[in-house]
Formats: sequence, C-alpha cells, structure tokens
Amino acid sequence: MSATTVVAGAILSDDGRILLAQRAYPPELAGLWELPGGKVEPGETLADALVRELCEELNVRVEVGDRLAVAVTLESGLELIALRATIVDGTPTAAEHRMIEWVDAERLRALDQAGAVVPNDREWLPEILADLLER
Ligand code: C5P
Repeated sequence: MSATTVVAGAILSDDGRILLAQRAYPPELAGLWELPGGKVEPGETLADALVRELCEELNVRVEVGDRLAVAVTLESGLELIALRATIVDGTPTAAEHRMIEWVDAERLRALDQAGAVVPNDREWLPEILADLLER
C-alpha cells in the first residue's frame, strides 16, 4: 500500500449502529459526515494504517475485520478502501473531527437524503445499510 491509498473504518456496534465522523476541513467537505480514516503510509498494511488513524482520530483501539467490496477511485488518483472494525478499547472522541455520532440505518438514510454524507463515502452506503439491518 502507498500514500495514494486512503483507508476508512466501518466501525459497527453490536446494537446495529455505525460510527460516523463530521469533517472539520477542507471547507468544501466541512460539516459532512464520513467514515473516519486517512492515508496509508508507505510500508503499512491497510489494517496497520486503520488502527493508527483511528487511534489518532478517535482515541480508540480497534480490531480490524474484512473489507467492504466497493473501492472508490477519486479523480485525484487516491484510492479509498473501507474495512469493517470493532472497538476493543476506549470510548471514541472527536480528536480531529467536529463531532462523532453512532447512527442507525434510519439516521444514516436521513443524513444521506439531506446531502450530509461525504460524496465518496456514499458508495459504501448500500453495504453499510445491509450490515446494520442484519444485526
Ligand atoms: O481525512 P484525510 O483528509 O486525511 O483524507 C484524505 C482525503 O481522502 C480527503 O481529502 C478526502 O478526499 C478523502 N476521504 C474520503 N472519505 C473518507 C476519508 C477520506 O473521501 N472517509
């Protein structure tokens, strides 16, 4: 993996919610909700990078699971991959985001319909909604 890959965490709870984070920057994305994550550094696996990013951004330790099937390629050349994850230590806090929220399927759909989800991350919504609804 390289600096042109971004990994994001689909952090699922036992009660059918996913953790969304509201971006604080850049201005065109500020206020929109995303799966937290960030760039993979050279030499890191996707899982290493996700564990590091979620520690930095949310102050939690996660266990990484499998990946969502959809990978998103941005015009900038960045590739976005999402991995399922569960929190094994800590309570999430918004260290780098404006705020965070555990959302259920209904709230996720409402945020999407309101145009409040980062456009790239919308590609993952069908898979995430299926995950949430089968819990
Ligand atoms: O979070 P960070 O700014 O490090 O992410 C780099 C880029 O990856 C963002 O500018 C954004 O375009 C993209 N990204 C995304 N969805 C995410 C995380 C990052 O589209 N969940």
